[in-house]
Amino acid sequence: MRRALALAERGRGRVEPNPMVGALLVKDGKVVAEGWHGAFGAPHAEIEAIRTAGEAARGAMLVVSLEPCAHQGKTPPCAGALVQAGVSSVVAAHLDPDPRVSGRGVALLRRTGIDVRMGVCGEEARELNAPYLKRIETGRPWWIAKWALSRDGAIASRGGRPLSITGAAAKREAHALRGRSDAVVVGIGTVLADDPLLTCRESERLRVARRVVLDGKARTPPGGRLLRSVSEGPVWIVTGPEALEGRKTLLRAAGAVVVEQPGAGRRGWDDLGARLAAEGCTNILVEGGGSVLRDLFEHGAADEAHLFLSTSVVGGKDPLPGPWGTDVTAGGVRLRGVRISRLDDDLWIRGRVEARRASASASAAHPS
Ligand SMILES: NC(=O)c1ccc[n+]([C@@H]2O[C@H](COP(=O)([O-])OP(=O)(O)OC[C@H]3O[C@@H](n4cnc5c(N)ncnc54)[C@H](OP(=O)(O)O)[C@@H]3O)[C@@H](O)[C@H]2O)c1
Repeated sequence: MRRALALAERGRGRVEPNPMVGALLVKDGKVVAEGWHGAFGAPHAEIEAIRTAGEAARGAMLVVSLEPCAHQGKTPPCAGALVQAGVSSVVAAHLDPDPRVSGRGVALLRRTGIDVRMGVCGEEARELNAPYLKRIETGRPWWIAKWALSRDGAIASRGGRPLSITGAAAKREAHALRGRSDAVVVGIGTVLADDPLLTCRESERLRVARRVVLDGKARTPPGGRLLRSVSEGPVWIVTGPEALEGRKTLLRAAGAVVVEQPGAGRRGWDDLGARLAAEGCTNILVEGGGSVLRDLFEHGAADEAHLFLSTSVVGGKDPLPGPWGTDVTAGGVRLRGVRISRLDDDLWIRGRVEARRASASASAAHPS
């Protein structure tokens, strides 16, 4: 099963909104074929394995990281194909909570006499597909917070020119994160300060994310780089009740999708998340600035965090602090499963966000 999970991982960033899935066919104690879901719309892992195995699939055991599907989607149902291929038993990590599957795949297999065993490496498999499972089970996407912080605790110089805090290697990783995301979110403060494009440019471009600006008063410049590049991918401007109709009309004329959202705080994240998830968005990258990130964490919405910690100094008078200044453990945020890599002169610290809205003293007692 661990091999199946490693194969599943190959689909990361390519299969969404589907889950990542890997599979093996085993016969007489030997692996006769491997398969994985390689891209959205491409054959599922089980089908790839059956195709590779050919006649050897007959009488083999399938080891698969998710319950085989039983419905016609972009591709035909896998459970039926397994029956046809003559597979004798199936070992799967967990049920697929997608209501179109959810136990139906297992039931179909068992009805035809195939021996099915569930729950092998279930926890690991659920961890691998946590963003997919969250979207299917709650109707909300997986929020990924990302920011770059200088050695003096700044995310930018105040009122100054846009500046690069990290080096080229960190930038490549940040762009790769965009390339794997279904939407990239920033606040209007960032748009006005940096005139960003928010596209994935410095690494393999897996898909074009929706670019989303949180802009209560519809102040996004219609002639800025975001809307001038609308042909590259959709731009959503999320406005509040205070946005003037005239501004919204200008933005629509420039090609923006104007989203009218009355809710703020946790409700705001939930409403936006529900809209994005309904469009099949699973991974949402929130890039800042400081106010938006702080709000995301304060309302317990963040699921995963990526901090690029630079050895460079922003300096100057009164640089703009990150979500919590220099203290990455303040704000009640603790990470679990933390991984730290060195990227030239920068550190890349990432993990799952664990404690949501814990008190500052609790976080000081358990630094991450
Ligand atoms: N180092 C980094 O990783 C990084 C990344 C991004 C940006 N930056 C820097 O950050 C600076 C901008 O940061 P900032 O804090 O001034 O602005 P920001 O976070 O980009 O935008 C804040 C504004 O967004 C609107 N907004 C809408 N919904 C919000 C919500 N849920 N939470 C918070 N704000 C919301 C508010 O304006 P309305 O009331 O008008 O809606 C608010 O004033 C820029 O200088 C940029 O260069 C750095």
